[in-house]
Amino acid sequence: MVRPDTLTEQNSNLADGQGPTECLRRLVLTNFRSYARAELRCDGRPVVLAGENGAGKTNILEAVSVLGPGRGLRGVRLSEMARRTEADNAFSDEGPAAPGAAVHWAVAATVQTAEGDVEIGTGLTPQTGERRQVRLKGAPAASAAALAEYLRVIWMTPAMDRLFTDSAGGRRRFLDRLVLSGDPAHGTRVNAYERVMRQRNTLLREGRNDPAWLAALEIELAEFGVAISAARRDLVGKLAFILDEDSSFPRSVIALDDPLADDLGAQAAVDVEQAFSERLKANRAQDAVAGRTLDGPHLADLQVRHRDKNMPAARCSTGEQKALLIGLIFAHARLLERQKGPKPVLLLDEVAAHLDERRRQALFDEICALGLQAWMTGTDRLLFKGLGDRAQWFSVTPGAVHSDIRPS
Ligand SMILES: Nc1ncnc2c1ncn2[C@@H]1O[C@H](COP(=O)(O)OP(=O)(O)OP(=O)(O)O)[C@@H](O)[C@H]1O
Ligand SMILES: [Mg+2]
Repeated sequence: MVRPDTLTEQNSNLADGQGPTECLRRLVLTNFRSYARAELRCDGRPVVLAGENGAGKTNILEAVSVLGPGRGLRGVRLSEMARRTEADNAFSDEGPAAPGAAVHWAVAATVQTAEGDVEIGTGLTPQTGERRQVRLKGAPAASAAALAEYLRVIWMTPAMDRLFTDSAGGRRRFLDRLVLSGDPAHGTRVNAYERVMRQRNTLLREGRNDPAWLAALEIELAEFGVAISAARRDLVGKLAFILDEDSSFPRSVIALDDPLADDLGAQAAVDVEQAFSERLKANRAQDAVAGRTLDGPHLADLQVRHRDKNMPAARCSTGEQKALLIGLIFAHARLLERQKGPKPVLLLDEVAAHLDERRRQALFDEICALGLQAWMTGTDRLLFKGLGDRAQWFSVTPGAVHSDIRPS
């Protein structure tokens, strides 16, 4: 197991009682989803967003989530986030907008950091297509990865409720997101690996037996593949270490199911790379018949077991699975908190609704103990009553967000 030598015994590190060091102080949405414009001013405490179904709560979390690398918590095309009017919807249910309609949106934020307040922002302009622009301290930045120096965002959404029972692909994407929030280059590696694999699959499927070309692709595939497995293995090792600690949520035992990662435990990375590219070469005939690559980290899985019950997570009850997932997310938050770099902002969509009173209280206590800015949504503000003045309250109505007082 990888020992997290980068871990330190940092405490929650409150900045002069002003809330967590890294948190959003201000969030402005322009033409984003259901909002023409919305602005939230935050004081560093956890945020509760309460409102009816369809009011726009998840849209706000999504806006925060695009302040990091990737396509945000819904994982959709960036152009889908542009605000569509009823007229746009009448034109088409699919795609970004009617031809000629300007596809643009922006999310800007003021982030409190150890070096003072930093202005960041991202968005699409009609000229940039699907490629978003990123701004940092008033100047253009090369990519959203640059924002990771000031802000890290992790999330949990209702879509993850089936994480343990659905296919391995969902768990791989979940794991890759965890890696990405601490290592912004991971997304580039995964995309590059998939691009090269698609090229190899096409060559093999079409029977174009060009050994030099195939060999070049296989060397690249092995290079990216081993880097991906190494990054995932590193994260799983560190998370497993944290999951050994006491927690108010059921703890899980996790393992990466990936032969390349196992090899990395026994051999140097260059040797694993060499062996993998040779295996790919030897597998050309069977991969050509299958029409896809049958070996590699694109088939890896994250295995999760309920520690106390010694039960695979997939066989646990719905509530137990939810609690295991929260345990994993908190372990990840704790890991990021102790590593170099900004403390994470936590987006918890609809997380309180499925928890019993005791677990809900444990959730709130854990958030406050970690000193993180957690953004929580719910239709029933009474579910968050236990947070009291420890949180900042907002009410969400279609197209608008208002500062609110806590329920008494
Ligand atoms: N691109 C868009 N342009 C305009 N409106 C959009 C766009 N995408 C989604 N919406 C609308 O935003 C509204 C709010 O969605 P959101 O998912 O944020 O609601 P919610 O408050 O989280 O509701 P729930 O409690 O049901 O989860 C929905 O009515 C949805 O149709
Ligand atoms: Mg929602």
